[in-house]
Order: sequence, then structure tokens, then C-alpha cells
Amino acid sequence: PMPTDLFTQDPATALAALRAEVLADRGPLAEHATQAVFGEGPIGAALLFVGEQPGDEEDIAGRPFVGPAGRMFNRALEEAGIPRAEAYVTNAVKHFKFKPTGRRRLHQSPDAGDIAHYRPFLRREIEIVGPRLVVSLGATALRALTGKPLAITKVRGEVVKSEDGVPVFPTVHPSYLLRLPDPESKEREYARFLGDLKGAWREVQ
Ligand code: URA
Repeated sequence: PMPTDLFTQDPATALAALRAEVLADRGPLAEHATQAVFGEGPIGAALLFVGEQPGDEEDIAGRPFVGPAGRMFNRALEEAGIPRAEAYVTNAVKHFKFKPTGRRRLHQSPDAGDIAHYRPFLRREIEIVGPRLVVSLGATALRALTGKPLAITKVRGEVVKSEDGVPVFPTVHPSYLLRLPDPESKEREYARFLGDLKGAWREVQ
């Protein structure tokens, strides 16, 4: 028989096997989603970004951060001088959680149970990719990684540890920037987000 444990598999095989498991997941959120969205990027990426969950466009495309938040994220990565192709990008929750309202599918925040359901997948994903630093985008990612409901405002700019002892650099979620109503706060918060990305990148150089 083929060896299937983590010790005998090379990382690419282990990641492909994990991806297959995530795509076959039949948890509560899988029922209404189009498909699971697994992470993407190179094994051994220095930076691994964790978002919340796929949105409407990600659910359809099957790829993380390709919708409005993804475009904001891509722009910030580019301005920070971080090639997206060199980073690994994934989400804490692998299925889109939404409320059907007419034609629109309205994003719903994942709860503690949703986060707990996907946490074993996220832990293994990080273990296989083996980043030097994990960047958590928003509160859900930070909670999934640390197991604690930490406030981003309290820990922003520090490096905290995940439950597995991996260094985590907390920042806001790009969709937070999209939701800010006035141009001044948008500009200020975008500059701060950019500063965080540059800081994370500097940490791994
Ligand atoms: N928001 C996220 O947290 N992740 C995505 O992949 C897209 C939007």
C-alpha cells in the first residue's frame, strides 16, 4: 500500500491530499456553498496570509481573494512590494457562509463552531507550507490561529503565537477598508494596512 502519513509524504503530496480532504468536506457550510476554497501559493512561502472565508466570487471561482476584497488585497501587496505569487494565501473557513436574499447572497460571519470545524485543516495547511510568518487578516483569522478572541487593536504591530507556536502578525481584513465610509479614514487605514504588510515582509527578509 501507498504510505499516507505526514512523515513519509513529501510536502506537495501532503498538501494535495489535504486539499482533496477539504474539497470533500461535508460539514454544515458545505451544503449551500458552490465548492470549498483551498489555499494557494508555493510550499515554503515565507509569508502565509489567512483571511476569513471565501466570498461570493471566491465561492464561484474556487480561489481565495479574487473578489472585491481580493482586488484591494492585491493592490496593497503590490504597493508593499510583496509578489502575490511568492506568498501563500488561504482562509480560516473554507466554505462561503451566506444568507440567500433574492438574487444576492449576503455574507454571514462564521461563528465559533464554524471556525472550530475548519481549524484542523488550517493547522495542517500551515504545517505543510511551513511559513516563517503567518499574517492574520481580521478577527476570524486571528481567533482561528490563536484560539483566543483577541482584539486586533490590542495586538496590532506585535507578533503573537498561534496554538502551534507559529509566529502570527495580526492586521485588519481588507474588506474592513472597503467598508469605511469616508475617504479620509479610508486613506488613513489603507496607509496603516500598507505599513503592516511592509512590516511583515521586512520580518521575513
Ligand atoms: N474575504 C476573505 O476573507 N477571503 C477571501 O478569500 C475573500 C474575501
